[in-house]
Amino acid sequence: MVCELGDDSAWPAFVEARARLAAGEADLQFHRTPNGWRCVPAEPPGADAAERFCLLPPSSAPTGPCTVWAPTAAGAPGFVHPTGRPVDAAFLGMARVYLPVLLGAAAARRRGRTFVAGHVTQTLDGRIACPNGQSQWIGNAADLRHAHRMRALLDGVLVGAGTVRTDDPRLDVRHVHGPNPRRIVFSGSGSVLCSDGRHVFRAPGCDVVVAAAAAATAAAAPAGAHVLPVRAHGTCLDIGHALSLLRERGVHSIYLEGGSATLSSFLRARAVDLLQVHIAGLVLGAGVPSISLPPVEHVRDGLQFAMDHAMLDGHVLLSCWPERVPGEP
Ligand SMILES: NC(=O)c1ccc[n+]([C@@H]2O[C@H](COP(=O)([O-])OP(=O)(O)OC[C@H]3O[C@@H](n4cnc5c(N)ncnc54)[C@H](OP(=O)(O)O)[C@@H]3O)[C@@H](O)[C@H]2O)c1
Repeated sequence: MVCELGDDSAWPAFVEARARLAAGEADLQFHRTPNGWRCVPAEPPGADAAERFCLLPPSSAPTGPCTVWAPTAAGAPGFVHPTGRPVDAAFLGMARVYLPVLLGAAAARRRGRTFVAGHVTQTLDGRIACPNGQSQWIGNAADLRHAHRMRALLDGVLVGAGTVRTDDPRLDVRHVHGPNPRRIVFSGSGSVLCSDGRHVFRAPGCDVVVAAAAAATAAAAPAGAHVLPVRAHGTCLDIGHALSLLRERGVHSIYLEGGSATLSSFLRARAVDLLQVHIAGLVLGAGVPSISLPPVEHVRDGLQFAMDHAMLDGHVLLSCWPERVPGEP
């Protein structure tokens, strides 16, 4: 089945699911009502079971004639359709992409870890920007809505100092309904603290965390920015320490929007739970690579992922789950 992520009709149920999972509710169902999809506490299956989705832990077997979503042990998505009856395609598309995110974030939180979803919008030849840094827009409007949905589902959105300087993002939720995430900027040297004219430091009610090496935090922070002194080797931040300090501030899940150096440093630290790769039908031939890691001698030494895909208005969105779950041997 081709999974299309275009229609927002089921979206409010996912915002509701996020709030319920964050409140510790685990036994949830999605129901289709005359006013659209809702996420509610689970009830036994009834006559309208074809319009009901249950969330089950990986070990549970389906217990009734409802359509069931269950995450697989590896965290990758898996569907069970005991009834074989047709279901709402708009809901299914969203469930396939966003439920593993919500469930992965809830599971990581239970284990005292931070769930990190990295995202990259790249060309067919793996570039995220032209050689001069210009990148807007490799993606399309559907990708932008997807990015704002991800921001609304997770506690924090994180970018590197280079992206703040080049793209000047706002990092809030404007294209869909949902809560704004905490904004986080990685800047080991603290260089971003001199960029106070940027949108991220000027948003109303601005509350930005700048993670910087302890030795680099003497520079005056822009109003509304909180500097988080993180353990570092030189200016290279200890990502595990940064994530633990952010958890103490209530950030248990992060949407990592780039750029290349930041995403690569998280991948190198094996700190990414999910990598979303948006691929546009475009070749630049040169430019900023989406990921840059130390070379390996053999393909078996590369990072391995299990993948699922969805369509974003003619572009492809890959959901890539590392074969090795962060924090586990
Ligand atoms: N297509 C896309 O999906 C997409 C998304 C985002 C950005 N972009 C593009 O990507 C380019 C920017 O990428 P980039 O690689 O140059 O920059 P970047 O990753 O945005 O920022 C790099 C900077 O972030 C800080 N940083 C990141 N990881 C760190 C770590 N582990 N420890 C300490 N500091 C860390 C450092 O700041 P300090 O120098 O202050 O130490 C570093 O110089 C732009 O052209 C932008 O348009 C594309």
